[in-house]
Amino acid sequence: MPYARITGTGGYLPPRIVTNDDLAADLATRGVETSDAWITERTGIRQRHIADPGAKTSDLATAAARAALENAGLQADDLDLIIVATSTPDFIFPSTACLVQANLGVGGAAAFDVQAVCSGFVYALATADAMIRAGRVRHALVIGAEVFSGILDWNDRRTCVLFGDGAGAMVLSASDEPGILAVRLNADGRQQHILCAAGNVSGGQVTGDPFLRMDGQAVFKLAVNSLVRSAHEVCDEAGIALSSLDWMVPHQANVRILNFISRKLDLPEDKVIVTLDKHANTSAASVPLAFDVAWRDGRLRPGQLALLQGVGGGFTWGSVLVRL
Ligand code: UT7
Repeated sequence: MPYARITGTGGYLPPRIVTNDDLAADLATRGVETSDAWITERTGIRQRHIADPGAKTSDLATAAARAALENAGLQADDLDLIIVATSTPDFIFPSTACLVQANLGVGGAAAFDVQAVCSGFVYALATADAMIRAGRVRHALVIGAEVFSGILDWNDRRTCVLFGDGAGAMVLSASDEPGILAVRLNADGRQQHILCAAGNVSGGQVTGDPFLRMDGQAVFKLAVNSLVRSAHEVCDEAGIALSSLDWMVPHQANVRILNFISRKLDLPEDKVIVTLDKHANTSAASVPLAFDVAWRDGRLRPGQLALLQGVGGGFTWGSVLVRL
């Protein structure tokens, strides 16, 4: 049975950087009070990239896809599969994956979206892995892309300071050499209310509340507990000790969550890739963006063991253990 190996990565961030001070000044004009000190101390976030009005998730996804294809040394028509993980698709349909395929100027490969919010990239990676291992796909493009700024309530300081826009992509290719070693995906739909954007389109109208709402403390606790458990489960499945991990590439939501997890797993903090200070929480894009940064700066190297983890709305969570 072939393995799925990561053969290329890419990322794209909109050029406009909004620092905490910029955001605090902007929110103050709406009568919403926040500060760089609060955001930095409670989350570790210092800035985020925000897409210009009108920028679409497919645009960001296509830029990341091109970078990943170039990094893998492949052409778009080498792909058998394109999956986009997103909660902020351009349209109800067609899928953002089909729009990216068109932007890349090709047709024929399977293309679809995965909706698992901030766990979306890990879910998409697991799906591509299964299709490669089944021998049905040789090269897959897996993308996490979001324009989350479009679903934020800029009058709600408990949520709007936390998120940013961006896209990350990976090429997975069939190989005889080990790549993805084990996968663990979970959800608990009974916790849907703690993180949701419960709007809908019906009869040509938006119904319900289309903005992101979150019970921050409930998400915090569930994120720590589920990711710690998932890390143990995926390592057990692969027969690998947690202590042999070289890197953890987690969903980037809050540096305090990451510190809790590394402490509970007895994993040194310098083995955890952190980009949320610069990117904030980019939902499905955060894991591939963090991976791309660390791959390109030489921290992640061939032969190492990395644990990728996502967690978010649904409630969903998951782990992918990979030999680089
Ligand atoms: O992608 C997955 C999803 N998201 C997450 O993983 C997020 C998980 N949760 C968290 O990261 C944290 O719970 C938050 C960062 C969202 C909040 O931190 P917290 O330490 O749990 O703060 P809190 O909600 O308990 O709020 C503490 C205080 C409150 O004021 P009072 O009631 O004590 O007077 C809030 O109103 O901080 C206030 N507050 C703010 N103050 C300034 C909340 N947001 C802000 C803000 N600026 N932006």
